Amino acid sequence: MSLIQEILPAEYLALSPAEMDRRILHYKSVLGNRLVILGHHYQRDDVIGYADYRGDSLKLSQLAAGERQAEYIVFCGVHFMAETADILTSSQQKVILPDLQAGCSMADMADLAQVEECWDILAEEYSKEIVPVTYVNSTAEIKAFCGRHGGMTCTSSNAGRIFARLLQEDRIILFLPDEHLARNTGLEYGIKPEEMLLWDPEAPDQELPARAPHLVLWNGFCSVHQRFTPEQVDQVRQKYTGIKVLVHPECSNAVVSKADLAGSTEFIIRTVSESPAGSSWAVGTELNLVNRLAKENPDKQVLCLNETMCLCVTMNRIDRPHLLWALDNLAAGRVGNQIKIDPATAGEARLALDRMLEISS
Ligand code: 13P
Ligand code: SF4
Repeated sequence: MSLIQEILPAEYLALSPAEMDRRILHYKSVLGNRLVILGHHYQRDDVIGYADYRGDSLKLSQLAAGERQAEYIVFCGVHFMAETADILTSSQQKVILPDLQAGCSMADMADLAQVEECWDILAEEYSKEIVPVTYVNSTAEIKAFCGRHGGMTCTSSNAGRIFARLLQEDRIILFLPDEHLARNTGLEYGIKPEEMLLWDPEAPDQELPARAPHLVLWNGFCSVHQRFTPEQVDQVRQKYTGIKVLVHPECSNAVVSKADLAGSTEFIIRTVSESPAGSSWAVGTELNLVNRLAKENPDKQVLCLNETMCLCVTMNRIDRPHLLWALDNLAAGRVGNQIKIDPATAGEARLALDRMLEISS
C-alpha cells in the first residue's frame, strides 16, 4: 500500500468543469487501452460518466480479475475496492486511487489483532470448526486472514450463495465486519437469532453461550446504511400510498424486515429499472445512486427512504479534480496514489477472493 498521501495541487480546484472535462477525455484517448477506469455505482455523477465500466463491488472485482491488458487501473471507489483490484491484477498492472482519503469506515472496524483474538477465544471455547468470511468491505489483512484459515470473501450480491454453501457443513461462520449483512443473510438462510452471537471486539471477555453459535456477527456497520430506520419505512408508506420500499442489506434487520425487498446494489438497480412505468420506490441506499436511479427512470417515482440522508462522504472524495490529477500524472509517466499490497498479504487475500469468485461464476 502506498503510504504517501499526495495532496491535490491547488491549481486543479480553479479549473472550470469544461476544462476538466476536455482534459480528462483527452487523456483517456491518449492513454487508450493502457488505461481502464472502474467506477462504483455510488460515485458522483460528474465522475461516473468517465468510467469505462461501472458496477457494484462484485462486478468490479470480476472486472479487475478479468482485466489483463490495461497497465493502469484508475479506481473511482474506495480504498478496499482498489486494494481488491490490486490483489486480483498482475504485478505489472498499477492500481491508482485518485484520493487516498477515500476510505470506508466499515472496513476500518475489523482490525487484524482483534480478529485474531476473537478467533483464538472461539477456537478455545468450541470444538466445532470455524470458517471466517469477510465482506469485501474489509482491509487486505482481513482478507488474508480469511484466506489462510480456509475462508473466503463475499459481497452483498453473493452472500446468500456463500451462506448456502457453508451451511452444508456444520461449522461456525465468523462473519466480518458487517453485523447487518451477516444477520440479514443468516436469517434468510434459516439461522435463528438464538444461533447467532454478536461479537464486540471491545469486550473480548464477554460471556459466551455454552452451545456453539452457528454464526458470529462482528459488530461493524456502514455509517450510511445504518442511518435508515423502521420509522422512516412507516412514514414513507403513510405519505405515498402503494410505494414499495427497497433497501440494501447493510441496513439493520429492523429496516430490512419492514421493507418489501432487500438486495445488493445491482439488485436495486435491476429491480427499479425493470419495474413497470408508474411504479413508486423508496430506496434505502446511498444518495448518489438513488438520485441517478430517479434520473434514469423518469417514468417512475424514485426517492430516498431518508429525505435528509447524506452521501457516502468517502466515496465522494473522488471528484473530477482528483481524477484529472491522476490522469495528468500518468500521462507524464508518473504514478501517484498507487495502491500496492505486499505480495505475502496479497497471496493469502487472493485465496479468499478466488474462493468467492469461483462460487459466484
Ligand atoms: P455493494 O457494491 O456490494 O452493493 O456494496 C455497497 C457498498 O456499501 C459499497 O461500499
Ligand atoms: Fe463504506 Fe458504507 Fe461508504 Fe460503502 S457506503 S464505502 S460500506 S461507508
